[in-house]
Amino acid sequence: MRQMIMGNWKMHGLRGSGERLAREIAKGADPACVSRDLVIAPPFTLLSSLAPLLSPHGIGLAAQDCHEDPDGAHTGDIAAPMLADLGVSHVILGHSERRQNHHESSALICRKVEAAQKSGLIPVLCVGETEADKAADRVEDVLGRQIEESLPRGFSGIVAYEPVWAIGTGQAATEQDISDRMAFLHAAIARHLETDDKATRILYGGSVKPEDAASILAVPGVGGVLVGGASLTAESFLGIARAGL
Ligand code: G3P
Repeated sequence: MRQMIMGNWKMHGLRGSGERLAREIAKGADPACVSRDLVIAPPFTLLSSLAPLLSPHGIGLAAQDCHEDPDGAHTGDIAAPMLADLGVSHVILGHSERRQNHHESSALICRKVEAAQKSGLIPVLCVGETEADKAADRVEDVLGRQIEESLPRGFSGIVAYEPVWAIGTGQAATEQDISDRMAFLHAAIARHLETDDKATRILYGGSVKPEDAASILAVPGVGGVLVGGASLTAESFLGIARAGL
């Protein structure tokens, strides 16, 4: 299975800086790194201007959220068919920043995943434990519940394992921790979906940097990485995309 390098720009980028960064990434995405699937998730405001810059280079375009309904009276929200209409290929759902800041439940995220799939988008469902979960030794309980409650039957997307304590802290999980969590998640997903172990691609996210990307991407079961801060310069994003090749 090809590995995916996905950049989550979060709430960063104005038109000038965002388009410049997308152009630099597209220009630098040489044949070595396109042996991996590259995807950029800019803020909603940049989706339509980035689509024609990225798609000729085979780089996917992701949104960072969508509504559960296809349309309706939802001021300020964005529906999955609107994203598909712009040429968006993927949508990140259930990111811990949305679970925390917008009080999103796993049940709501599950409905968003279904809405995304109905519109032909590939959902990238995020799961991950907090520092408190880790300290209380309940990581597998938390991850298991998030998988059961957020993944609809018939899920055919990507899962991203992002330990909350590793996001934006500069402290990525250890290779051993990533390997253990990947094994646990692959088994939990296969059980929940009644499918083959390893049929679902699982990304790791949390303080991935160019210097440690090769060792993270070499951990068994890792289907790619979801990168926040280090996706905000072409040099570091492409450094990760080429890591270990
Ligand atoms: O979705 C990506 C993410 O939350 C990780 O962010 O800045 O730790 O790479 P960062």
